[in-house]
Amino acid sequence: MEQVNDAAGSKKSLFPIVGLLLFVAGVALGQSWNGRSSRADETLLPAPTPPPKPKTDSEISAEQIEGFKNWYYAHQPTTFSNTYWRGVQIFKCPLDAWIFQEIIHENPPDVLLETGTYKGGSANFFASLFDLEKRGRILTVEIKHYTDKPRHPRITYFTGSSTSDEIFQTFKKFIRPGEKVMVTLDSNHHKEHVLKELQLYSTLVTVGNYLVVEDSIKNPNFPGAKEAVEEFLTSNSNYAADRSREKFGFTTNPNGWLKRVR
Ligand SMILES: C[S@@+](CC[C@H](N)C(=O)[O-])C[C@H]1O[C@@H](n2cnc3c(N)ncnc32)[C@H](O)[C@@H]1O
Repeated sequence: MEQVNDAAGSKKSLFPIVGLLLFVAGVALGQSWNGRSSRADETLLPAPTPPPKPKTDSEISAEQIEGFKNWYYAHQPTTFSNTYWRGVQIFKCPLDAWIFQEIIHENPPDVLLETGTYKGGSANFFASLFDLEKRGRILTVEIKHYTDKPRHPRITYFTGSSTSDEIFQTFKKFIRPGEKVMVTLDSNHHKEHVLKELQLYSTLVTVGNYLVVEDSIKNPNFPGAKEAVEEFLTSNSNYAADRSREKFGFTTNPNGWLKRVR
């Protein structure tokens, strides 16, 4: 009985060792098989694509500006259409309003002609800037009738089309000889209309002052101010787009801050 018990005991004690040996052998075999199969697969697979090149700083900032632009327009009810100067709605991105302030302070015009009054928010803004400069008048034209426009001694409102001969001649009469003139075009932004405005009003701006073509950002729906400016600049060497005015990265007037250089 003792012997049987001994034999059974030694057999029992061998089980874990044999099991362990079998497990180790199995793992070793499996690894060598996997190694062979992955090496075989490598020859069949295409070469791995290299990791994407890191973006340059300018690529990243262009993407960020594009992202801001898309966000700004996608949220129009709370951004673009929700901007006020002293309580009056103004259709200007604050980044552009600041550029107007810098331009007007650097070389204050005597007369600022504006096409596209809307509710008078931008005219009111310009009038405040002129108050600070203690000079300047604003002549602004709107095709529609808006009531309750802000009243200000520096602003004269006109009703009519900016491209009509009647309005253009009236504007001309209001400019006194020797006065410095600046113009901003912010009415109908379709290409043909802006081109007509450019042809007319470019003759009134004095050397060193600006002719601003607003909303020259690409319009996906129709040829607009962007295309008008491009065409105008190809045939008019009196003006140069002052790209330094786009220093904040985003402007609704890209290529549209035109300076009269001769
Ligand atoms: C973008 S809004 C002007 C916004 C305004 N300058 C501001 O910053 O608050 C354009 C305005 O131009 C007017 N408009 C459109 N065609 C016109 C034209 N031929 N002559 C004058 N105004 C025009 C529209 O009725 C509209 O009120």
